[in-house]
Amino acid sequence: MERLAINGGPKVIPQEHSHLLKWPKIGEEEFSAIRNLLDMQRPDYKPYDFYNEMVYLEQEFASYMGVKYALSENSGTAAIHSGFFALGIQPGDEVIAPTYTYWATSMPARVLGARIVFAESDPDTLCIDAADIRRKITPKTRVIAVTHVWGIPCQMDEIMNIAREYNLKVLEDAAHIPGGEYKGRKVGTIADVGCFSFQASKLLPAIEGGMLVTNNKEVWERAVSFGHYGFLTEKNRPGKDSPYSEFNCTGLGFKYRIHPVSAAIARIQLGKLEENNAKREACMGYLAEGLEGIPGIRVIKAPPYTHRTYWGFRIAYKAIELNGLDKDKFLYALRAEGVMCEDERYDLQHQQIAYRVNAYGPKFSRAPLEERQSLPRTEALKSTLIGLPAFPEAPQELMEQYIYAFGKVTAQADRIAKITIKNQDIAKPPDKHSVIR
Ligand SMILES: Cc1ncc(COP(=O)(O)O)c(C=O)c1O
Repeated sequence: MERLAINGGPKVIPQEHSHLLKWPKIGEEEFSAIRNLLDMQRPDYKPYDFYNEMVYLEQEFASYMGVKYALSENSGTAAIHSGFFALGIQPGDEVIAPTYTYWATSMPARVLGARIVFAESDPDTLCIDAADIRRKITPKTRVIAVTHVWGIPCQMDEIMNIAREYNLKVLEDAAHIPGGEYKGRKVGTIADVGCFSFQASKLLPAIEGGMLVTNNKEVWERAVSFGHYGFLTEKNRPGKDSPYSEFNCTGLGFKYRIHPVSAAIARIQLGKLEENNAKREACMGYLAEGLEGIPGIRVIKAPPYTHRTYWGFRIAYKAIELNGLDKDKFLYALRAEGVMCEDERYDLQHQQIAYRVNAYGPKFSRAPLEERQSLPRTEALKSTLIGLPAFPEAPQELMEQYIYAFGKVTAQADRIAKITIKNQDIAKPPDKHSVIR
């Protein structure tokens, strides 16, 4: 049997390959769009022309997604905040949200005074579990928020059926999945409102930025009035006949419009989205298939009737199939072979103090302070998760090396069990600058 790298054997992946994770890919097209936008010497330049960029982006995004309204925002978080406001969240309401996600899925609803009721995650997809959503509904529930985590679509049919049954609204956090599909429909356009992020690491990067999409005119008008005071453009904004045009002068307290430079980058990146997604799919799909069936791990996959994206990639560790081998030792042995891998990086939201204190002041929220919510299934699931890099592009050879390394390590679990690892080498949770998402 081939000697393990931890025991002095040859590494399966001797070559440094972290440069393959470089993202975003900004090239001449983006530079030339920015130069053109900022060039005040061009003959057709007019003051405030910059802002047309945001209107063009909205038109192009709406057309790509096949929705009536797209509203550009300066972040995905701003899009979600506006989305909860647009859906009518008020103090005392309850929002059901996943615990296994980034904080921006639910914290903006907390800011509006809602109590966040967390639901368990589906172990197959890591997305919010529709059956648990149903269990968490109370007379105060108003909105269900879902995240298509790492680019895997949620169980949208089940979730929309529950929403119809109980007369609830649904917000899709589609930050990880621009271009993904669920039963032939673009993810992010299925519920009442969908929110995308254009932050630098995302699949449609504009360095910072976001987009809210909806087919509901009032939802769009409310979102515009929330974060887009003093409409800079007549185009793509509610007309005088809208009741919300009364707020044109002041808005409702936020300035959430996208930076025109980000809008210019986003327009170019939108044109490259499908090609870029396909490149990720080519290598990550190959890796997923190759890892399938290796004992000790389970690949987290999207249901066959969906088309996922790869903003992140997770496998679940099954120690029981490797005679109980410790996860830290497993990761240590993989790293020694040259595999970039790490322990789960997401903190579970229901364990965070921000949801249990009135940080804005005692009178701010009518939501009662409470003990930490308990989500034992997701806590156990999280402890099994391992993150592998979602390569934007990589040679097939490298994916084959990854697959081979997993085979080599899992076949020698008993040997790995015997090693002692020093404290400083233990696979600790990654730091926030980790490139593995
Ligand atoms: C699931 C999810 N939702 C929302 C956001 C927020 O997006 P932004 O960083 O553009 O505010 C992120 C960002 O990482 C995210 O991962």
